[in-house]
Amino acid sequence: MKVLVTGGCGFIGSNFIRYFLKFHPDDSVINVDKLTYAGNLENLSELSHSPLYQFIKGDITDAPRVQDLVSMGVDAVINFAAESHVDRSIEDPSAFVKTNVFGTFVLLEAVRKFSPKQEIRFLQVSTDEVYGSLGETGAFTEQTPLAPNSPYSASKTAADMMVRAYHRTYGLPALITRCSNNFGPYQFPEKLIPLMISNAIEAQDLPIYGDGMHIRDWIYVEDHCCALDAVLRHGREGEVYNIGGGSEMPNLSVAKAILDRLGRPHSLLRFVTDRPGHDRRYAIDFSKIERELGWKPSVSFEEGIALTVDWYLAHREWWKKIKTGEYLTYYDRMYKNRPLPPPCREEKAGVE
Ligand code: NAD
Ligand code: DAU
Repeated sequence: MKVLVTGGCGFIGSNFIRYFLKFHPDDSVINVDKLTYAGNLENLSELSHSPLYQFIKGDITDAPRVQDLVSMGVDAVINFAAESHVDRSIEDPSAFVKTNVFGTFVLLEAVRKFSPKQEIRFLQVSTDEVYGSLGETGAFTEQTPLAPNSPYSASKTAADMMVRAYHRTYGLPALITRCSNNFGPYQFPEKLIPLMISNAIEAQDLPIYGDGMHIRDWIYVEDHCCALDAVLRHGREGEVYNIGGGSEMPNLSVAKAILDRLGRPHSLLRFVTDRPGHDRRYAIDFSKIERELGWKPSVSFEEGIALTVDWYLAHREWWKKIKTGEYLTYYDRMYKNRPLPPPCREEKAGVE
C-alpha cells in the first residue's frame, strides 16, 4: 500500500508514519507538509534515507500541487494537515478556515478528479471537539449531533461535512475518525501536557485555565495511530469512527500527576483566566470501532504519562529549540497578560 500522508511532520502525523512503516515494512509513505510553526522535520529525521519514505514540502490548499501528489500512484490519502490549536483559533481563525476547510476540499476534489473509479481511499482525521461539550454524564457517540464551539472545532466540523458530502454525492470512498486528546512524544509544547511537562522541568509556572475542572479524555498517541491504521485498512466506507482512551480526567489532575512524577511542588500551579467558550467535558464512546474492528486502547494514562515525561526529559534539546522566537512571543501574548482570577479559586479547586 502506498499512502499519501498530509501534515506528517506534526505530532500525530509523525507518530503515525513511524508506526505505519514499522508495522507494514512492505508499504510506503509520501508525506506532504507545509512546515508551519507546528511542522518539524526533526520528528522523522531517522527516516530521511528510507527508500519507503518521501517528504515533499507543500501546502494542501495548493490545488495543482495536490493534484500532482494524488497522481503519484497512491492507494490512500490520510489527512492530518491542519491548524490544530484551539487558543490560536480564538486569536485568529483565518488560517483554520483556509487549511482545515479549504485544504480538505482541495484534497477531496483532487481525489475525485484523479480517481473516478474510486480506487483511492480517503481518511479524514477529525476530532471529538466537533460534538461540542457534554454535561456531567454521558459520552459522545457517532450519532451525537455536531455542535462545535471554537473556530477550530467549527473548521473541523465543516471539513467533516465536506467529506460526508463527497461520499454521498460522488461515492468517494471516504472515512472519518473522531479522536479525543492525544499525548506522547513529539507533541508541540503549546498543548496542555507537553507545556506542563516542559514548564515543570524548568520549574516554571503551570497555567491552569479557569478552575481546572474541565474534563478531557486522554489517549496515548500510539493507540490513536493503531486505530487509524485499522480504520484505513478495514473501516467501512462512508462511516465515522470515534476513538478514545477511556481516561477522563480534569486538567488539574493531569497537571498534578505531571508535577508528582517530576517531584515538583504543586505551588507551581497558576490559575489564569479561562479560555473563551471553553468546553467543559469530553468523553468518548468507542464501542463501534471496538465492535467492528477489534480496536481498543492499550496504554493506560499512568503508563502513557510515565513514557511521555521520560521522553521529554530525554529530548530537552527538541523542545528547548522550539521554545524560542515565535513561541516566546506567543507564550507572552497568551499567558503574561491574563489577569489572575480571585485567589479563592485555588482553594475551591483544592490545591495544596
Ligand atoms: P500538529 O499541529 O502537531 O500538526 C499539524 C501538521 O500539519 C504540521 O506538521 C503542519 O506543518 C501541517 N500543516 C498545517 N497546515 C498545512 C497545510 N496547509 N498544508 C500542509 N501541511 C500543513 O497537529 P496534530 O496534533 O498532530 O493533529 C493532527 C490532526 O489530528 C489534525 O487534523 C487535528 O485536527 C487532528 N486531531 C488532533 C488531536 C490532538 O489531540 N492533537 C485529537 C484529534 C484529532
Ligand atoms: O479533543 C481533541 C482536541 O484536543 C484536538 O482536536 C485538538 O487539536 C487538540 O489541540 C486538543 O484540544 P484541546 O483544546 O482540548 O487541547 P489543549 O492541550 O489546548 O487543552 C487541553 C485542556 O487543557 C483544555 O481544557 C484547556 C486546558 N489548558 C490548556 C493549556 C494549553 C490549560 O488549562 N492550560 C493551558 O496552558
